[in-house]
Amino acid sequence: MTENTLRQPVEIQFKTELDALLGHDVALKLPKPDNWMLSPQAVVLYLMGGKTHDGTLISAKYIGQRRLIETAVATLATDRALLLLGVPGTAKSWVSEHIAAAVSGNSQQLIQCTSGIDENQIRYGWNYALLLAKGPSREALVATPLMRAMQSGTIVRFEELTRMGSDIQDTLITVLSEKVLPIPELNDAVHATQGFNLIATANDRDKGVNELSAALKRRFNVVVLPLPESPEQEIAIVKQRVADIGVGLRLPEIAPADKEIARLVTMFRELRNGETEDGRHKVKSPSSTLSAADAISVTVGAWSEAAYFGDGSIDAEKLANNIVGAVLKDPVQDRIALEEYLENVIKPRKDWRDLYAAVRESL
Ligand SMILES: Nc1ncnc2c1ncn2[C@@H]1O[C@H](COP(=O)(O)OP(=O)(O)OP(=O)(O)O)[C@@H](O)[C@H]1O
Ligand SMILES: [Mg+2]
Repeated sequence: MTENTLRQPVEIQFKTELDALLGHDVALKLPKPDNWMLSPQAVVLYLMGGKTHDGTLISAKYIGQRRLIETAVATLATDRALLLLGVPGTAKSWVSEHIAAAVSGNSQQLIQCTSGIDENQIRYGWNYALLLAKGPSREALVATPLMRAMQSGTIVRFEELTRMGSDIQDTLITVLSEKVLPIPELNDAVHATQGFNLIATANDRDKGVNELSAALKRRFNVVVLPLPESPEQEIAIVKQRVADIGVGLRLPEIAPADKEIARLVTMFRELRNGETEDGRHKVKSPSSTLSAADAISVTVGAWSEAAYFGDGSIDAEKLANNIVGAVLKDPVQDRIALEEYLENVIKPRKDWRDLYAAVRESL
């Protein structure tokens, strides 16, 4: 990986913070589970942000309830695996990546679950040239991220666990309950090293997902990541992530867009909650989630437009196209919902006239 890599793994991006936390653990003599890079307290400090013993500033990765992150981290020190559940865009993948980086120093042991995945991609595969030449042997075995994590005592991540078939999901039962991965072909097995655990993510909104079997569910501790509670919290998330992403993409600098971000977040919250923030008007909700993640994408899109095709500041016009794209997932129903919202809520707001006109024009 070079400095031109589009997105570095978080353990590289945040190496300075992770190093400072290593020092913090030593100075405070905090105990850590076998094979963990940091203590559970330091992992939570890394996620929630704060200061180390010597005053080094740690940025907040997750903005929300500390208790949720504490439960998630504590779970990984037990014999149960962690399942992060929530609607799309609630930072499940983001939290999973950061926790893996802080616990194991490696967030890259990852299996993306799909409906087409088979057992060989989860347990182990074979190098067929070697298999034919020498027959089954350890040498001919191709390890998966799961097997490597078991051998090295680290965290493996499963993205979108419920997208793979239930029969394939159940492959994990023995691994999670007995911490062993049998290799019947060799009459052998891989026994997990201390420190091994699994973080899975799943969203409860998508169609076509495969429910977890009761047997597998029992092996997970479920932590539900909620949508941000307050508008202030959501605005803070969007501002911080937009700034990070824009800098990562090396977008030309533009004027601060705080006012536009606040309006955008208000709009998305009202549409998603089905009522205006003052509770006075009911609003039809569109089919899209319109989470903080959607507001982040819209703002980054508007930033790029403003920087390359505008006067260097995000205005209603730059936001409008991106807003329409985010809201209209169903071209008929969502259009009706957005039009009603525009006419009944946005139009009467005097200082939102520019946004009304721009969105109207983009529709
Ligand atoms: N509470 C939050 N704190 C910090 N960042 C957040 C929060 N909520 C959302 N985000 C940001 O939203 C973006 C999307 O998050 P992520 O991709 O992890 O969502 P997800 O829950 O995995 O969604 P999906 O179900 O679509 O995979 C990330 O940039 C993340 O930083
Ligand atoms: Mg995700």
